[in-house]
Amino acid sequence: MKAVILHGGQGTRLRPLTHTGPKQLIKVAGKPVSQWVIEHLRSEGIRDIVVVLGDNNPTRVIEYYGDGSKFDVSITYVYQGKARGLADAVYRVREVVDGRFVVYLGDNLVLHNMSSLINTKAAASVMLAKVPNPQRFGVAVIKGGKIVKLVEKPKEPISDLALVGVYSFTEEIFDVIETLKPSWRNELEITDAIQGLIDRGRDVEYSIVNGWWKDTGTPADIIDANMTLLDRFSARRITGEIVNSKVEGRVEIGSGSKVKNSVIRGPAVISKSCIVENSFIGPYTSIGDNAKVVNAEIQNSVILDEVSISDIAITDSIIGQKSVIERGNNRPVANRIVVGENSWISL
Ligand code: DAU
Repeated sequence: MKAVILHGGQGTRLRPLTHTGPKQLIKVAGKPVSQWVIEHLRSEGIRDIVVVLGDNNPTRVIEYYGDGSKFDVSITYVYQGKARGLADAVYRVREVVDGRFVVYLGDNLVLHNMSSLINTKAAASVMLAKVPNPQRFGVAVIKGGKIVKLVEKPKEPISDLALVGVYSFTEEIFDVIETLKPSWRNELEITDAIQGLIDRGRDVEYSIVNGWWKDTGTPADIIDANMTLLDRFSARRITGEIVNSKVEGRVEIGSGSKVKNSVIRGPAVISKSCIVENSFIGPYTSIGDNAKVVNAEIQNSVILDEVSISDIAITDSIIGQKSVIERGNNRPVANRIVVGENSWISL
């Protein structure tokens, strides 16, 4: 069975992190969100993957995943370009899938097993989860154990059972998508396409996700996902060099990284080719490749590739690629800041 990962979209709520690339490539607990998706699919025995690319620097996605062999899967790419909605993205794969296929939103982290999606004869199978904020999701109304209605981003509180971003479909979904009209947000909604299957009298099955899952749409979601994934999956794996330092608990230190005169308290990930000196890296921190941390304290934060941080303490933060955060010594002592659009700083 093939799986389709939707890797396009706008990522508006994650700006400025998404000014230079798609949100699905933001590293959480040491790996891009969509790599967690690929690993989940692989663990379910699905290795034939189609990635649908958007228009936000899609070459970065191809550079990272290539043909998938480094991740023990096979990846082909289909181009959607401008975000015209999930159903539009799904429609783009009609020539490359054969029979039932899985669709996985590339910004969703789901730990639930996928057997109900794989072993089914229904026209569609979806996952639902109870949420406190149903207006942010597509929701399903259940009657007598069956889905009777689906609404995308409901204004009225008709259900608190949200559609989780993993589905399976037969090719009939393409016929329904051809009949869809754009929604109020000017997108072709996959939720409307599933409703179309119900209107045709087809079976739409569901399973309930009781455990943790996350749509990583906002900075708070990224911090939360980083914490949960580090909690669940981190292990002690030290390949880098440690000099005169204390490394406590489940800590990963990647190859070419050097930790000197520091305390690292897990769960934490320090990726490849980093320098950490005279610093404290506290629990729930992930540091990307080629980062430099000197005379600093970092806790519960996501630090992306090639960041440089010195002489400060930070917590609950996300620092985008190639950013520099340092304490200056010059007068006036006031902070000097160059930040991108939609940045958020609390000093
Ligand atoms: O997270 C679950 C929710 O995901 C569901 O409950 C909703 O029914 C579903 O519509 C979706 O809502 P979002 O508003 O969160 O969708 P978002 O725009 O974030 O897009 C989801 C993923 O699909 C994301 O990885 C980007 C990608 N995408 C999105 C659009 C609109 C594309 O690849 N192409 C697109 O045109």
